[in-house]
Amino acid sequence: MTVYKKAKDLSDYLSDQKKKGVSAGFVPTMGALHQGHLALIRSSKNENRITVCSIFVNPTQFNNADDFRHYPVTIEKDIEALITNGCDILFLPSEKEIYPDNQAVKEYDLDGLETVLEGHFRPGHFQGVCQVVDRLLNIIMPDRLYLGQKDYQQCKVINKLIELTGKQNNISLTIEPTIREEDGLAMSSRNLRLSVEQRELAPAIFETLLFVKSNFLNRSILQVKAEAYSFLEGKGFNVDYFEIANADTLAPSTNINDPLVAVVAAYIGTIRLIDNVILN
Ligand code: PAF
Repeated sequence: MTVYKKAKDLSDYLSDQKKKGVSAGFVPTMGALHQGHLALIRSSKNENRITVCSIFVNPTQFNNADDFRHYPVTIEKDIEALITNGCDILFLPSEKEIYPDNQAVKEYDLDGLETVLEGHFRPGHFQGVCQVVDRLLNIIMPDRLYLGQKDYQQCKVINKLIELTGKQNNISLTIEPTIREEDGLAMSSRNLRLSVEQRELAPAIFETLLFVKSNFLNRSILQVKAEAYSFLEGKGFNVDYFEIANADTLAPSTNINDPLVAVVAAYIGTIRLIDNVILN
């Protein structure tokens, strides 16, 4: 695996490869890699000649300084895992490489996607995600981009970003299913911060989502949502939101004929976990 730290070196290399007809798949990450990320690397390897992974803990998407400070960094282990899984290129940029001094800060019109759910509780988060992903896509210009469904809203936002920046004919976005621990907890870099007791409690999030999936057709959506809230709060979670939303627009929905997704964000102590399931 070759490690690139300079944006220009990487983009020169990849544009040369593109001219030769070599396809590239890209998996953007903030490191602390787990099986969810590695599944994306393997999908990219199956479908592209070159697989590029980036590791950059992007400061502009953290609306909570503490969360940024405590974001787990496990770079040596990450490099080993990437090599074992056959990743070809790791892009490991400094902050200056991603945000050079002379670069204007862009505003992205996300058509309401950034004001609901995560966007409501984490103002500015999706603008930060767009800033970094826009920059990474411009450097790497992959043929295929791989994201995990665990960050459902992020997948929608990045899909919108690809359209906004006119790359929809050049980059195809693949969203891979959430990878879970045996007890159902969605894999996440933040799980590393859970205490033993918190880790035992955490699968209740997925349990609640499964309860909603089994019951949303036999009770009213409002009722099933209220039960989900009180189940999680009863277990000691501090729930930011538990919503049933239109799976395309992410607007709350009570219409079972809509494509629906159940999405949740809840704190265990100071650690915020998110998860979702598609309902129909
Ligand atoms: O999902 C993540 O790890 C990040 O939000 C991403 C897409 C790498 C952008 O920093």
